[in-house]
Amino acid sequence: VPSTAKCHTSMTTSYMETSDVTDLDWENLGFGLIETDFMYVAKCGTDGIFSKGEVLPFGPIALSPSAGVLNYGQGLFEGLKAYRKTDGSILLFRPEENAIRMLSGAERMCMPAPTVEQFVDAVKQTVLANKRWVPPTGKGSLYIRPLLIGSGAVLGLAPAPEYSFIIFVSPVGNYFKEGLSPINLIVEDKFHRASPGGTGGVKTIGNYASVLKAQKIAKGKGYSDVLYLDAVHDKYLEEVSSCNIFVVKDNVISTPAIKGTILPGITRKSIIEVAQSKGFKVEERLVCVDELINADEVFCTGTAVVVSPVGSVTYMGKRVEYGNQGVGVVSQQLYKSLTSLQMGNVEDWMGWTMQL
Ligand code: COI
Repeated sequence: VPSTAKCHTSMTTSYMETSDVTDLDWENLGFGLIETDFMYVAKCGTDGIFSKGEVLPFGPIALSPSAGVLNYGQGLFEGLKAYRKTDGSILLFRPEENAIRMLSGAERMCMPAPTVEQFVDAVKQTVLANKRWVPPTGKGSLYIRPLLIGSGAVLGLAPAPEYSFIIFVSPVGNYFKEGLSPINLIVEDKFHRASPGGTGGVKTIGNYASVLKAQKIAKGKGYSDVLYLDAVHDKYLEEVSSCNIFVVKDNVISTPAIKGTILPGITRKSIIEVAQSKGFKVEERLVCVDELINADEVFCTGTAVVVSPVGSVTYMGKRVEYGNQGVGVVSQQLYKSLTSLQMGNVEDWMGWTMQL
């Protein structure tokens, strides 16, 4: 990437202007960090009110070794994407949903959070400042990562006295190395992701560190990721480390109900609404692991994974395969409907996109 940045100061913002294009290899984007030009930072003290944020050059942030997030994991994150339309404009997908989820997660984690308006405005500013990193149409998207962290110093266990709201972005392609091909999951029989009364239903950073070990073991055996069961009965589906799960049987689409231990995915919610609008029956309920045996299709949803077909699930040493390692008809239809909306390839009949 050429470093053609030059300093620029206006009445309201002070940041760098850069060239309009990058020399990135757009054909081979995966899901790894590509550093972009700018990040957004806003801070908040004990009054709970976030300062007017700033768009700053992307780079390291200073934190006390005693920061709440480093010592006691007081942190949340979000994930959303921006797509480039064929006319060059940029679309955000339901950013206010991420803002609302951050607000509710912050309440659980005893943190103040930016208002919906401030969150969405910050996302817009960050994306526009990094406009040249939004991949060309059809080549991927700009992944937007908002963070809310307890940046103030603590020693005894208590909420931090200061919080930072940070947004950085990275161009991304497919999440799984399989690309759009079906992934292979293994049902986790030792570890659990969440328990009733815990924080499984909020996007707190600790939920993700705690699944790394199971994920590492599964990857070592050649699986793409781990499917978790509930911690009480060890028999109901919960979610995959990085996404929600859906099971299709006789054209009825089922997904585990949100009950505190499952992340309320925005892609999950959007797929449910799209499927219903297409006439599918969708059930949010307890989904027993045994239902995987006779399912017609299984797929995962998430901002990063979008809609990922599942080619096989292995449970207690038994492997069940779906769709002849191809993409199931329902999964394919829902993938197409959702991504056409997200990329602006069709009229936004759900009113979900925000054009920049
Ligand atoms: C997302 O899908 O945006 C997530 O936050 C999951 C993460 C593990 C990449």
